Amino acid sequence: MDVHNVNIDISAVEPKQYPSNGYPEIALVGRSNVGKSSLTNVLINRNGYARTSNKPGKTQTLNFYNLDEKLFFVDIPGYGYAKISKAQRAKWGEMIETYLTTRKQLKGVVLLIDGRRAPSQDDLQMYEFLKYYDIPTLVLATKMDKTPKSKWNKEVSILNKTVDLNDGDEIQLFSALSKYGKEEVWKWIESKTGV
Ligand code: GTP
Ligand code: MG
Repeated sequence: MDVHNVNIDISAVEPKQYPSNGYPEIALVGRSNVGKSSLTNVLINRNGYARTSNKPGKTQTLNFYNLDEKLFFVDIPGYGYAKISKAQRAKWGEMIETYLTTRKQLKGVVLLIDGRRAPSQDDLQMYEFLKYYDIPTLVLATKMDKTPKSKWNKEVSILNKTVDLNDGDEIQLFSALSKYGKEEVWKWIESKTGV
């Protein structure tokens, strides 16, 4: 999809704040600082539209990006961020779980994993959660610009070994810096949403 108009429609923490126009939604999920906001910017061809930061925990609400009145990207706050209180963590967990398990418009999740290391326990747990709820998932190994191309096959085999892929789910390598994988991510999103 060639995106012309982007609006951040809504920052939501609970269902009554979710958008009501019924467009399909793709959620971006992953550890804090893994590159969800950077992926958004690459996919919509806007540098710096979704705010990125080298400090983890930048995104704290569900941010709905309205793309051409056709589709929403939902930027989900990252997990694995140590510097928050237990109460805050529980609140975030509930917000994310409620969205992922009840949202009818949700057509798929892009689960970002840092391509420089094996998936963490948090990553694997998140994937099992998505599988349990039968949410179509694209596992995206990102920051691949930091790994020499000669090691990319090894990265894919580590992912294949550690992530027990559900039928129909896929693994893709990506870099927000070089934009490697951008077309494949779009194709996957289009196949899940029909946009
Ligand atoms: P939270 O909002 O805290 O959950 O983080 P996020 O997942 O949205 O991460 P964000 O996009 O803000 O990126 C975090 C840092 O990683 C930033 O400094 C980005 O520039 C950097 N980054 C993201 N993607 C890539 C990538 O593909 N390659 C490289 N080299 N750096 C990246
Ligand atoms: Mg972010």
